[in-house]
Amino acid sequence: MTGLSVEGLHKSYPGTPVLRGIGLQVKSGTLTAILGASGSGKTTLLRVITGFEAADRGSVSVNGTVVDDGRHRVRPEQRHIGLVPQDGALFPHLTVRANVAFPLARRDRHGRRPDEMLELVGLGDLASRYPHQLSGGQQQRVALARALASQPSLILLDEPFSSLDAGLRATVRTDVLAVLRATGTTTVLVTHDQDEALSAADHVAVLRDGRIIQADTPRQLYRCPADPQLASFVGTANLLEGTWDGKRVTTALGRHGIHAGLQVPKPGHVTVLIRPEQICLTPPGSDTVPARVTATHYYGHDALVAVRPDAPGSRPGNGKAVKGAPGNGGLDGAVLDGAVLDRGALGGGLDGGALGGAVLGCGNGGPGGVQGGGEELRVRVSRSDPPEPGEFVSLTVRGSVAAWAAADGN
Ligand SMILES: Nc1ncnc2c1ncn2[C@@H]1O[C@H](COP(=O)(O)OP(=O)(O)OP(=O)(O)O)[C@@H](O)[C@H]1O
Ligand SMILES: [Mg+2]
Repeated sequence: MTGLSVEGLHKSYPGTPVLRGIGLQVKSGTLTAILGASGSGKTTLLRVITGFEAADRGSVSVNGTVVDDGRHRVRPEQRHIGLVPQDGALFPHLTVRANVAFPLARRDRHGRRPDEMLELVGLGDLASRYPHQLSGGQQQRVALARALASQPSLILLDEPFSSLDAGLRATVRTDVLAVLRATGTTTVLVTHDQDEALSAADHVAVLRDGRIIQADTPRQLYRCPADPQLASFVGTANLLEGTWDGKRVTTALGRHGIHAGLQVPKPGHVTVLIRPEQICLTPPGSDTVPARVTATHYYGHDALVAVRPDAPGSRPGNGKAVKGAPGNGGLDGAVLDGAVLDRGALGGGLDGGALGGAVLGCGNGGPGGVQGGGEELRVRVSRSDPPEPGEFVSLTVRGSVAAWAAADGN
């Protein structure tokens, strides 16, 4: 295929197996983000693809040409791959223009190409400066211009935005990705930032334990992650025990349909994923699951609210009613939360006991997924005055859910 194809790739450093059978396909002209924890092998994978490291086994192909099959290797400079390394790595003693011209053949260095590349990344005016006279974001764009200068068929970006502050990061990312889209360059973007991966990429591949455990569109990855651990890795996850009868899943929060296209587990015990934005907070007293707010983490544009469902029968009587909500309200007009995707983590205090026979885990995702006995749930609330700790609310779940066979195998 055109683009990048990695199959069965293994790579170890002495005493450290890092890549253990990587499979990855990136179609020509698309952008794939590789998401993985620190030390999971993202940079190693890019270095094998570019040829700075050799594969132990497996193969790497670029536009149908095998560049490494574990025995024969095409030299890095003959692979036509542009790499923007993790640290940018500009030459400090060269001007911006000379940095961009560096990968070109000697006869092309004085031509138009370096200037065109600098125009493309919006730095045409700064060609005669030195790297130390640039901001971090401008340095990143010079590194990109340098990688693009030799018209690579594939460009690899290794956490190119991680050193930038939040405001600059969003701007530089938008600019850089716009350039790559405009030039139709096949791109691999390495990141450990879930927001960046989900918002920027056509596909997201998640690297864990030396393998790509899921490669999917951002929406599919977020809705139907391969396992509970991955669900927590790509966003905030409420992981609940449930029972699947072949048609509906029953949890402590009610009965839910499961996402279309999901690989359906066998009827029995399941672990259920409910995202924070799927839970609606409504006034207490409606025919829903009663709960009490235990913590509110306010982010300005929205808030993440921790709620603890009450044991059955202990309806709120002595607590505060939820702010701004009608006292006897059902659901009508009283839904308080929005549907803003959340990737944040809510710190602390998430362990607890069982609720009405159903254990509610708020997964930080151990190998088995649901962590024992946590009972708080996290809810995304987009109103400007979210409920405060101590207030009573009711919970309803909207939309379908993802579910996996429970780790106990029953
Ligand atoms: N040259 C090397 N020799 C020995 N071990 C190495 C070498 N380079 C990396 N490693 C080890 O290989 C593993 C993967 O490293 P790698 O740099 O690929 O991770 P990463 O996913 O890019 O991490 P980060 O997000 O922190 O950049 C780590 O355990 C690291 O210590
Ligand atoms: Mg790295």
